[in-house]
Amino acid sequence: MSQHPKLAILGFGTMGQAISAGLVEASGYPAGLIHAVDLHPAAGKARAEALGIRLSREAEAAAREAEVVLLCVKPRELKDLLDGLTAAGALGHRPLVVSIAAGTTLAFLADHTPGATPLVRAMPNTPCAIRKGMTVLAPGKGVTEAQLAAARALFEPLGRVMDLDEKHMDAVTGLSASGPAFMFVILESLAEGGVQCGLPRAVAVELAAQMTLGAASMVLETGRHPAALKDEVTTPAGCTIAGLMVLEDGRIRSVVARGIERATQVAAGLG
Ligand SMILES: NC(=O)c1ccc[n+]([C@@H]2O[C@H](COP(=O)([O-])OP(=O)(O)OC[C@H]3O[C@@H](n4cnc5c(N)ncnc54)[C@H](OP(=O)(O)O)[C@@H]3O)[C@@H](O)[C@H]2O)c1
Repeated sequence: MSQHPKLAILGFGTMGQAISAGLVEASGYPAGLIHAVDLHPAAGKARAEALGIRLSREAEAAAREAEVVLLCVKPRELKDLLDGLTAAGALGHRPLVVSIAAGTTLAFLADHTPGATPLVRAMPNTPCAIRKGMTVLAPGKGVTEAQLAAARALFEPLGRVMDLDEKHMDAVTGLSASGPAFMFVILESLAEGGVQCGLPRAVAVELAAQMTLGAASMVLETGRHPAALKDEVTTPAGCTIAGLMVLEDGRIRSVVARGIERATQVAAGLG
């Protein structure tokens, strides 16, 4: 497959736009090779024009020409879309089909595409829009190294990429795809604490965000366990352990962990 395969992006909403922007702006993907499709293209028109990509309502035409078809519609919209493309013969040339739909299994995708279509499940997140994303890929049966590399090349400009077995995809969805929303609530709460203690709100938000970025970067860059890094901040009888006791009283660990568990359960039912 060529370095920049002809790409159809079906669904130009939050994720379709985020991925398109990352590809064109960060990886220098030639905009002329991307054909985005949406049911209501007017909503994404300005974004598509700014990126220089084609945006239409023509899913069949886009798929027919594409070497890679990236599915960015909601899980409930996938069946009709794929059945329509298959019936029209628009996937007859067996393009690589990459789906980012939550809870939608490779088996489901195989049931609604022509036999022997190479399939990859991907789970990105919204920080892909600023190239700080996390994407996990799960290849279907028979996907070649070159095809998986082509899928990887779509997401690598948008942040980190990891390959995992499909059995983990719902947990990935609950953790790293839903996770930005959880972190925004936690960030908001951290900032509220600063405001409660007299900091101007804008200052509190900036301190909370940069501190969160720094803490996350320490985990990724040192490879050390978060508990060890936490212990280093925690002086005996100091202010940090006093704050931690209050968080533990509120069962912060189980509340956050159960939130991921619940999101995972719901993700599993979305397909
Ligand atoms: N949002 C996230 O954080 C996130 C993270 C990881 C994965 N995902 C997955 O990404 C997928 C897209 O999510 P999203 O948040 O980007 O949704 P979204 O903003 O609703 O975008 C989906 C777009 O697809 C369009 N569409 C629907 N049916 C179509 C069809 N047959 N042909 C072409 N376009 C069609 C919709 O148009 P209309 O609205 O005009 O009908 C909408 O613009 C979902 O499957 C989700 O599970 C989302």
